[in-house]
Amino acid sequence: MASRAFAAVPPLAKKDTYKVGFAQTESNNPWRLAQTASMQDEAKKRGWQLVYTDAAGSAAKQVSDVNSMIAQGVDLIFLAPREEVPLIPAIMAAKGAGIPVILLDRNVDQSLAKAGEDYVCFIGSNFIEEGQRVGDWLVANANGKTNIIELEGTTGSSPANDRKKGFDDVIAANPDFKILASQTGDFNRDLGRQVAETLLQAHPEANVIYAHNDEMAIGAISAVEAAGKVPGTDVLILSIDGGKEAVGLVVEGKIAAVVECNPRFGPKAFDTAVAYANGETIAPMIINPDQFYDATNAKELLPTAY
Ligand code: AHR
Repeated sequence: MASRAFAAVPPLAKKDTYKVGFAQTESNNPWRLAQTASMQDEAKKRGWQLVYTDAAGSAAKQVSDVNSMIAQGVDLIFLAPREEVPLIPAIMAAKGAGIPVILLDRNVDQSLAKAGEDYVCFIGSNFIEEGQRVGDWLVANANGKTNIIELEGTTGSSPANDRKKGFDDVIAANPDFKILASQTGDFNRDLGRQVAETLLQAHPEANVIYAHNDEMAIGAISAVEAAGKVPGTDVLILSIDGGKEAVGLVVEGKIAAVVECNPRFGPKAFDTAVAYANGETIAPMIINPDQFYDATNAKELLPTAY
């Protein structure tokens, strides 16, 4: 890979309206649909033109989506990079073409591209903290359930890497707990179900499943039931995202706890672009605050979940 040029991020001219790109990574779950809707609603509200692409789960397609936005002469690109490394050339191509990039929700490898040098900033959740919050909840509420199966998100993506790190570090500091197996389910409901089924067969002593997103947690519920066990009683299921379906399952007792990952990016993303055009100093990482749901608050907060 070519070495990073240390010039500044291209500026954004001050205008009344903009043509901006939003390069989405995939659209196969409620979280992605909520994020896209938030971006589209905000563009409409402000009268900006939004060039929207869906990479359908392919980093290669997302690189070509960004190149196509560059060819169409967008003013700025919002990019939700599928994985940490393969999208670096797309960021560098936009920079070379004089188009600023704002990363949304997923980050890139910080040894290869940097906020304030190669792209404007990252806006999203603190994924390490999300994993830590799940781990801390488990340590405090396990009630003897200490044998864990971990369902990881998309390999090479920042949420999968960081949610694993945050959780695994908490578990490593609490020797009563053990991660029996950790395998990717690609943030996908059906793959999460299949992987959970296989791992539950290999590790019948498992009594905790930590899934890196709601989709895999919901798949894991089916796997636990297929194994003749009761979710929430025999096996604690823990998740991240906090969509309505998962929070409803907390109310039902099938999911024990969920850390929210807020998908409503539109207002903050567009405000940040305007602030950048106005020459304001932009923080390299703008972190979204995330809710936490368990049996103590899920019923009350369910109407506010996306
Ligand atoms: O990057 C955020 C993650 O990506 C969400 O947890 C997941 O559901 C989505 O696909």
